[in-house]
Amino acid sequence: MKIFLFTLTLGILGMSPSLSHDTHAAEPSITKALFGKTADGAAVDLYTLVNARGMKATITNFGGIVVSLWVPDRDGKEADVVLGFDKLDGYLGKHPYFGALVGRYGNRIAEGQFELDGKTYKLAQNNDGNHLHGGLKGFDKQLWAASSSMTGDGPQLVLSYLSSDGEEGYPGSLSVQVTYTLTEENALKIHYHATTDKPTPVNLTNHSYFNLAGQGEGDILGHQVELFADRFTPVDQGLIPTGELRSVAGTPMDFRQPAAIGARVDQDDEQLVLGKGYDHNFVLKKTKPGALELAARVYEPTHGRVLEVLTTEPGVQFYVGNFLDGTNIGKGNRVYQHRYGFCLETQHFPNSPNLLQFPSTILRPGESYDTTTVYRFSTR
Ligand code: GLA
Repeated sequence: MKIFLFTLTLGILGMSPSLSHDTHAAEPSITKALFGKTADGAAVDLYTLVNARGMKATITNFGGIVVSLWVPDRDGKEADVVLGFDKLDGYLGKHPYFGALVGRYGNRIAEGQFELDGKTYKLAQNNDGNHLHGGLKGFDKQLWAASSSMTGDGPQLVLSYLSSDGEEGYPGSLSVQVTYTLTEENALKIHYHATTDKPTPVNLTNHSYFNLAGQGEGDILGHQVELFADRFTPVDQGLIPTGELRSVAGTPMDFRQPAAIGARVDQDDEQLVLGKGYDHNFVLKKTKPGALELAARVYEPTHGRVLEVLTTEPGVQFYVGNFLDGTNIGKGNRVYQHRYGFCLETQHFPNSPNLLQFPSTILRPGESYDTTTVYRFSTR
């Protein structure tokens, strides 16, 4: 507000404010408009969050999807840095989880099956015999209840969803709340909260595809990535972790120093061949479990945007759009070709319900599931 008035006053006086990256200073706000209707005729809204520096996010309560994220480059020029669709219809059709909230279990559970407290549970098998991203109708395809407000942290959208006992095969009714806040440090902060009435696996994430040059502006192979991980979880041909935590040293998985995505992605490496590129979970370095710490930093050299990802989660799935093939026509009629976006899906490790050596993903009655992930933007 102060910056806004300051800028406005200078503007009226014909002076240009010296806040180089605040040239789009605005009054922070959150507004809502009709986005469309589901096949059942339910109204779906699109919320627009603006912070005092002019960064803008639009988020819909269908699937909790981040529809757009407008971020300044090093010259203060804004671009939408996430893949997606202009209209709700695009999200109602088949698409690879653009921007979506993913649950009840983000990533894969082998053979769609796990044992918990001596009982075997069978889930939807929607990915070559495995369970992926919550099943046939995961949280990404549900209509969430929404409430919005202005907070000291910035405009905030709270999405709530009650996943019923047995939904997609999962035990227990799970009450979920996801809070999106657009903060003054040009960050989209996501807090995930859940409680259950029966023990159940839970692993919530967001599946935004980023292109820091702007959505649809070519592939992401020139982006320079740094991952704060010494180890990763190697996979089999179904992209299910073998259970090993393998050192990244001497492999194309080593992003401890920044490296371009394209530098090694097509190397004849067993893991890259299995993943068709990077599609792997990295084991994050933590000073202590659950600490909110840097997971990744990505820099796009032509426009200078930097994305930093912080999370309380132990892992991050680094996926580079290997399955994008031009069949999705996105915002502004941009065609999303192979590797036009990358994802950093913060999470517990894939298939944890069956790999008991991994950190547990089981939530029990009386416990509270709380994780935080921050997507923070700056320029260089
Ligand atoms: C995740 C998976 C990928 C792929 C995408 C969606 O990132 O790890 O293998 O399924 O989701 O296309």
